[in-house]
Amino acid sequence: MRGWLVTKSDGRVESRFGEIDAAWLPAGDVLVRVQWSSLNYKDGLAITGAPGVIRAFPMVPGIDLAGVVEESSVAGFAAGDLVAVTGCGLSEKHWGGYAEVARVPASFLVPVPGVFSARQAMAIGTAGFTAMQCVDALERHGLRPGGREVVVTGAAGGVGSIAVALLAKKGYRVVASTGRLEEAEYLRGLGAAEVMDRAELSAPATRPMESERWGGAVDTVGGDTLAGLIRTLGHGCAVAACGLAGGVSLQTTVLPFILRGVSLLGVNSVEVENAERRRIWGLLADLLGRDLLDSLTTEIGLEELPEWGEKVLRGQVRGRVVVRVLEG
Ligand SMILES: NC(=O)c1ccc[n+]([C@@H]2O[C@H](COP(=O)([O-])OP(=O)(O)OC[C@H]3O[C@@H](n4cnc5c(N)ncnc54)[C@H](OP(=O)(O)O)[C@@H]3O)[C@@H](O)[C@H]2O)c1
Repeated sequence: MRGWLVTKSDGRVESRFGEIDAAWLPAGDVLVRVQWSSLNYKDGLAITGAPGVIRAFPMVPGIDLAGVVEESSVAGFAAGDLVAVTGCGLSEKHWGGYAEVARVPASFLVPVPGVFSARQAMAIGTAGFTAMQCVDALERHGLRPGGREVVVTGAAGGVGSIAVALLAKKGYRVVASTGRLEEAEYLRGLGAAEVMDRAELSAPATRPMESERWGGAVDTVGGDTLAGLIRTLGHGCAVAACGLAGGVSLQTTVLPFILRGVSLLGVNSVEVENAERRRIWGLLADLLGRDLLDSLTTEIGLEELPEWGEKVLRGQVRGRVVVRVLEG
């Protein structure tokens, strides 16, 4: 099979594109002919050989995949089914989506909802799945349309773009925070009512709490941005924190938590029960317009991954990138 293989020898990590012996595929219940994968921040790290993602070598990277079942040894999946995997340790401990064939445990797989093609499922991918989890977490905490505005940070990126689209579709007044003000028109096209410069949110604190502004927040950036959000959330409101594009440390005080009752909701998309995965995909199928999804998607081939991996790490990718795995 054709694909990317990341190897490590004498402490040196190397990514190589070419033929991989399919006999090396890991054990699993279901063999999938991969058609599409996607590019996420984590994929940028793995494909460029940066540490922190791959935990077992050799590894086929790619944290997402979609394709057609070729062989299945379990009830529930049969040859010809259109399926997807996001997260589940792909590209960390289990071979991922940047090769033409994958073998995975059935517990990783979800059927692609009938409204989406395999390509659209990968335009969603881990980023869209995470965006939906964030919106769902905020609503389970009590967020409802009609209140204060909701802010999305890293808005022009993958998680951010889909979060803006989902929140706008649900009727929230969405403020998109971005470092790329030149993408304002794109963000308004996704449904943002307002676009703000990300420097505002990450500015140094003047007080432990500042004026209440946000009814909720989806944060893909972390660091000073997350600290700024915590200081400016409305009473009883929450931020769903899923990312670290701007840093991993968090400098805050307990005052917003104990005087305003704000909440910090952590979101993880990797380790999620299969039934919960199917529920989240069901929400995405109900909410995400296919035309809008196509409008935020860029398509690349497997060979272009190193170049695009660098771009995603530099924060230069707009929206979502799908990777064409099956040629022809
Ligand atoms: N918790 C989970 O399970 C989970 C799942 C998916 C992703 N994530 C994390 O979520 C983040 C976003 O992922 P993604 O796939 O959407 O990546 P992405 O497409 O690269 O988007 C990240 C965005 O963050 C902004 N950004 C980049 N560098 C920044 C910096 N130094 N300071 C402030 N903002 C910066 C940029 O948006 P603007 O240009 O609009 O400012 C960029 O487009 C990543 O940290 C990723 O690891 C976590």
